[in-house]
Amino acid sequence: MGGIEIHPSITQLHPDAVLESPCVLSVGLALSKFVDLGAFSYTQGGVWDFVSVGRYCSFATEISIGGHEHPTSWLSSSPFQYNPKMHGWDRVGPVPYGPERPRRHFKGLRQTMIGNDVWIGHRSIIRTGINIGDGAIVGAGSVVTRDVPPYAIVAGAPAKLIRFRFGDWTIRRLQALSWWRYAAWDLRDLDFADVEGTIDQIAERRARGGLAPWAPPRRSAAEIKAFTNLGPTIDEAKRFFGLAIPIEPP
Ligand SMILES: CC(C)(COP(=O)(O)OP(=O)(O)OC[C@H]1O[C@@H](n2cnc3c(N)ncnc32)[C@H](O)[C@@H]1OP(=O)(O)O)[C@@H](O)C(=O)NCCC(=O)NCCS
Repeated sequence: MGGIEIHPSITQLHPDAVLESPCVLSVGLALSKFVDLGAFSYTQGGVWDFVSVGRYCSFATEISIGGHEHPTSWLSSSPFQYNPKMHGWDRVGPVPYGPERPRRHFKGLRQTMIGNDVWIGHRSIIRTGINIGDGAIVGAGSVVTRDVPPYAIVAGAPAKLIRFRFGDWTIRRLQALSWWRYAAWDLRDLDFADVEGTIDQIAERRARGGLAPWAPPRRSAAEIKAFTNLGPTIDEAKRFFGLAIPIEPP
């Protein structure tokens, strides 16, 4: 609907999840807390928790992002020690804390941040709280346990640096340009394989005022659900998602 595709199998989308058009949440993604997904990003299943994703990101299948940590140096690694509602066991018997020994808190979930133009390979695991920089690539089957710098290619378990995609100078130019601010249709007629030339041309288009940042309304999952339930027309949907723009050549 209107450039934001949420597969019907995704029933756990948090009402506060924020999505930018166009983007795709395809079949089989299990989501717990909230997920922000930037424009031109797509997912293909997996288990995700509390993650913020930039634009133009590509996710392969069966990716786990932000799985909760459990305590490793307490009596047990089990959440029964700090989660009173775990699996409804508080209805079966008293919780194991009280006035003399109040419940301790354990923070097993932190926000995971994924930049723009990131590609994550099949069956990767990204630990909670990790930051993955713009332009980075995570190889298939990796376990990412440390932050990944911009434009790094990392792979393996634990993931290690293979190389950077470009030299320092080009990486700095790409980050300064932040080309992901623009819509894909504003990046027409560029030779993407010639990175330096593409950077020059985008900078030149911008300098002559030929590029406006893509700024669609950021819609929450609750808003999208309420809107979709109204049975809107295609034109109404385009307006709601900010897609009713005339596209002129640069
Ligand atoms: C990470 C990746 C992009 C690297 O591609 P590349 O730059 O062509 O890398 P190379 O094949 O030159 O490999 C470089 C080194 O990294 C190693 N390597 C590459 N991918 C690896 C991976 N996923 N895990 C562990 N090591 C890996 C290679 O064995 C090689 O090691 P060596 O130098 O000791 O021989 C690619 O291997 C990959 O994993 N792609 C993801 C594919 C995928 O998941 N597709 C799903 C559809 S979206």
